[in-house]
Amino acid sequence: MTDKYAELVHAGLGKELASRLGLPQPARLRRYEPGQPLIEGTVLVLGSSAGADALARLLHEEGIDVRRHPDSASRFAAVILGLDDARRPADLGETALAAGAALKKLGKSGRVVVLTRPAEHEDPAVAAARQGTLGLMRSLAHEMRHGGTANAVVLEDGLDFTVPSAWGAVRFFLSGRSAYVSGQPLRVDSAEGYTPADPDRPLEGKVAAVTGAARGIGASIAKALRRDGAQVIVVDVPAAGEQLAAVANEVMGTALQLDITAEDAGQRILDHARTRYGWLDIVVHNAGITRDKLLANMDESKWDSVIAVNIEAQLRMNEAFLSSEAFAKDGRIVSLASTSGIAGNRGQTNYATSKAGVIGMVAATSPRLQERGGSINAVAPGFIETDMTARMPFVTREVARRLSSLQQGGQPGDVAEAIAFLVSGAAGGISGQTLRVCGQNLVGA
Ligand code: NAI
Repeated sequence: MTDKYAELVHAGLGKELASRLGLPQPARLRRYEPGQPLIEGTVLVLGSSAGADALARLLHEEGIDVRRHPDSASRFAAVILGLDDARRPADLGETALAAGAALKKLGKSGRVVVLTRPAEHEDPAVAAARQGTLGLMRSLAHEMRHGGTANAVVLEDGLDFTVPSAWGAVRFFLSGRSAYVSGQPLRVDSAEGYTPADPDRPLEGKVAAVTGAARGIGASIAKALRRDGAQVIVVDVPAAGEQLAAVANEVMGTALQLDITAEDAGQRILDHARTRYGWLDIVVHNAGITRDKLLANMDESKWDSVIAVNIEAQLRMNEAFLSSEAFAKDGRIVSLASTSGIAGNRGQTNYATSKAGVIGMVAATSPRLQERGGSINAVAPGFIETDMTARMPFVTREVARRLSSLQQGGQPGDVAEAIAFLVSGAAGGISGQTLRVCGQNLVGA
């Protein structure tokens, strides 16, 4: 589905009118393509924290022009704020204000990344400072212009910002892979993971299964995982068989026609993986349905079907994966949640219950995956341009699109990029998290 308004305000009369009337002018976002440099231009690293020093060194080693002062260049592609050693809120001002001075020099699709630590701390002043960094980051994300984003990497105490997943998370936020992610903290709590040898093929040698892959976001995920080097098994209901076969062909993978609510769905995926490839490394629980109704008008079949597909099937399949030798020890799982599962949404009590359930499941399953060297996370998309959102009434759709800091809907590929990152070695130390891909949706949490 194309966003005609966004196209209209990019050129000619539409552009002039939108500027004059103060209407939203959604920017063209810089999105990842293989071979693209991590970031094009100078990166400003502010603060004198251990994190700032480590990142400045890693970026320099990557061949990036790194500066440490806002006056040292006329243009920046990204600004990194090292706030990881703040002991009290008063410590934040100097770095925050230096970032403020650099913002006007930030180019299109500019990036701000805040380095911080978890707010759970026994000292109230430290906790206040750390929580404060997230308030700063979220507000700054609302102030970003021209397709810019602001996000935070929250690193567990005792770990150095050079651990692979802290570096991986910073890279993700700097790159075009996070084009539609803004206002989000991403927590890294272990030193697990590794930096892939080839940043354009981080999933080389991996075997992945994607459910609900016949169309929409699932098809995009399958393509992104393939592009990144994985062998892909695409799964969908028999009724979608033709579309599924087309996706399987495109990703040079294999198709498995399967209703994931079947009792033995997990085992069927494992059997398919074992027979065709020998094992299974990655599972993306993408299949999902909506059956919207106000709770007052909800019937049993609408409630039950959404719970069955969106969460009960995942719980059952995960049990099968985790008790199978065919599922890799460092296996990775990503589930699709939704911003509705965080903020709630009128007419979606069943859907929001299931998607909030996904968030709970991921957090609770994480220790089991982590003890094997694996991970499980959720991605919560906001408004994404798919068949599902194309069916919304015109005015509701138009409002929903603009109600994010990036003033536009995301593309299925934006969700796929976040998932491709989370299943990669670069995110090995990130588990139990829910990452929103919503352009910093203004509604709800
Ligand atoms: P879609 O409706 O276009 O595709 C879903 C796919 O899942 C379809 O191919 C369908 O056949 C398959 N599927 C449904 N039930 C199945 C079952 N029992 N067994 C196997 N496959 C089954 O949906 P879309 O928009 O691509 O969404 C994908 C995921 O992202 C869903 O989990 C959805 O809830 C979530 N999401 C989507 C958002 C959006 O804006 N489109 C926003 C937030 C979350």
